[in-house]
Amino acid sequence: MDISRRDFSRFLALSGSMLLPQQLEAWPAPLTQTPAQSDERFWLSLREQFLMPADLAVMNAANLCPSPAPVLEAIYRSTKDMDGDPSFENRAKMTTGKEDARRALAGFLRVTPEEIVITRNTSEANNMVSSGLDLKAGDEVVIFADNHPSNSAAWAQKAKRFGYTVTTLPQPNPHPGADYYVDAAKRAISSRTRVLAFTHQTSTVGDVLPADELCQVARERGVLTLVDGASALGFIDVDLSRMQPDFYTGSSHKWTCGPKEVGVLYVNARVHERIHPSIISAYAGTIGISRRLEAMGQRDEPAIIGFAEAIRFGTRIGARAIEQRSRSLTQGLIAGLRRIDGVHVWTHPDPLRSGAVVTFRPGTLDITRVAAALYKNDRIGCATRTGSDRPGIRFSPHIYNTMAEVDRAVAAIAKYMKQGV
Ligand SMILES: Cc1ncc(COP(=O)(O)O)c(C=O)c1O
Repeated sequence: MDISRRDFSRFLALSGSMLLPQQLEAWPAPLTQTPAQSDERFWLSLREQFLMPADLAVMNAANLCPSPAPVLEAIYRSTKDMDGDPSFENRAKMTTGKEDARRALAGFLRVTPEEIVITRNTSEANNMVSSGLDLKAGDEVVIFADNHPSNSAAWAQKAKRFGYTVTTLPQPNPHPGADYYVDAAKRAISSRTRVLAFTHQTSTVGDVLPADELCQVARERGVLTLVDGASALGFIDVDLSRMQPDFYTGSSHKWTCGPKEVGVLYVNARVHERIHPSIISAYAGTIGISRRLEAMGQRDEPAIIGFAEAIRFGTRIGARAIEQRSRSLTQGLIAGLRRIDGVHVWTHPDPLRSGAVVTFRPGTLDITRVAAALYKNDRIGCATRTGSDRPGIRFSPHIYNTMAEVDRAVAAIAKYMKQGV
């Protein structure tokens, strides 16, 4: 049944208070094209799969992405099934759905399902590593400065408790090139170093780190690697069979456009014996490391099933096509912003050093007011960086954004730089 987007929005507005089963089919029509026909028309038709009104341009993928219709539908269908008959007998299929999701994630990351733990988000996955390794006084963890708190504050706190040390390597701005990171890691790693933890694409200014090379440097020195992929999974075409980290983490609700509160922890088979579970409860996964690390009690399986649908949605578009598209949108923003007098772009314009996040300081304008004006006057959603460390506005566009939205964002910043805010 084809029902218009307006009806669909009405359904969602209603659904807060009551669910009308006869309207459940009101999702946008399925995607009919593939990126082989990849021009702006393809991406405009893809946008139709998302609920955001056409005039709203949210460029905040590094924080939270919306889910497209097939994902929402999968979540709803499974939730309805579960809540319609919550018996163990009926819910047996949810276990199958969870294991299907594990296989989908493994295929997506090019590893084995035995190495996949389905977590609740990247924060949990990062903490499962910092809490689960046996580290003691005399050991050292080396991290890079722009790690997210779940991968820097967490190490710092556990270091205090267990008596090991954390060494933080600077991330200079602008991105000094891949060699800087490789050399910094080589110089920092000592006989005491047990773990190297870094972020694949930083959420601060969008620096992309040479993950394959850093993992190799650590591997050659017998050091474990934790790669935080929160802002890479679903944007960069992540191939873990090539990168070979020990641990890689990500969240469904970011660039994979999946449900909220689902995530992934990849644990390389070679270190399965080196990590202990930090949560011990019932309902573990059925294979590999998930049997030990995924016993977290009752889960929201419909959301996990929705994560698999998000992976399938992205796979239909193509990982390469998604990466290229997000990169071209960001390159458009970087080029446009760099042309505006007084704007300072923190993100490096070289696509070998940056990805799909651009952070810039709009001269002396008040950042919070600029962000508020962008949303109110220009219908553009963004994130802000306040404080003294590379302050500014952050745009992180993704496949549901358009080139017209990029132009609109650049024009809006030019306008505020000229007339104030
Ligand atoms: C690099 C990075 N790591 C980890 C996280 C935490 O992700 P989550 O809130 O999904 O746990 C974020 C969130 O913004 C992030 O950007």
